[in-house]
Amino acid sequence: VIVRAMEPRDIDAALAIQAASPEIAQWNASDYDLSARPGILGLIAEQPEDRRFAGFLVARQVLDECEILNLAVAPASRRRGVATSLLRALLESATRRGTAAIYLEVRASNAAARAFYERNGFREIARRTNYYNFPIEDALVLELPLRPR
Ligand SMILES: CC(C)(COP(=O)(O)OP(=O)(O)OC[C@H]1O[C@@H](n2cnc3c(N)ncnc32)[C@H](O)[C@@H]1OP(=O)(O)O)[C@@H](O)C(=O)NCCC(=O)NCCS
Repeated sequence: VIVRAMEPRDIDAALAIQAASPEIAQWNASDYDLSARPGILGLIAEQPEDRRFAGFLVARQVLDECEILNLAVAPASRRRGVATSLLRALLESATRRGTAAIYLEVRASNAAARAFYERNGFREIARRTNYYNFPIEDALVLELPLRPR
């Protein structure tokens, strides 16, 4: 896949993938208008043949920490390395900015995401009891250290 910056014209496609991904935070269209959200980085993965939208990642950079806010791949495009490509692009950008670590929260029951992050070197650093609603569930806080501090 090709990874590029998210643009306003991508919002509908992001919402469609989000609707097929109940595991992630359900944002509204304006949340994906990143031009209005300084410090937020959005990445899109698309198929080179037909420019079909395969997935997206949104992250927030605060000082030397980066937090993945939302990541989803279209169900038909999963297990083909799309999320890996998105994460790799984020790592390049984060490393360029001197980021010390990447963080995220994931539902404890989200086995696919946990396997994906574990495969990519993230480790569990905390558990937030009953952090999520609908359904109520613990969050695991995962960290990928990029450099010593
Ligand atoms: C989690 C998610 C983003 C992974 O995307 P993906 O493009 O399918 O991931 P990749 O193809 O890059 O997977 C890389 C590796 O992660 C692991 N992995 C990914 N999905 C997995 C699954 N369902 N079960 C077990 N391991 C999995 C595997 O080790 C995989 O390598 P392999 O396919 O060679 O075995 C995708 O399943 C998704 O969109 N889920 C719904 C939304 C979500 O949960 N987002 C995360 C919120 S924090």
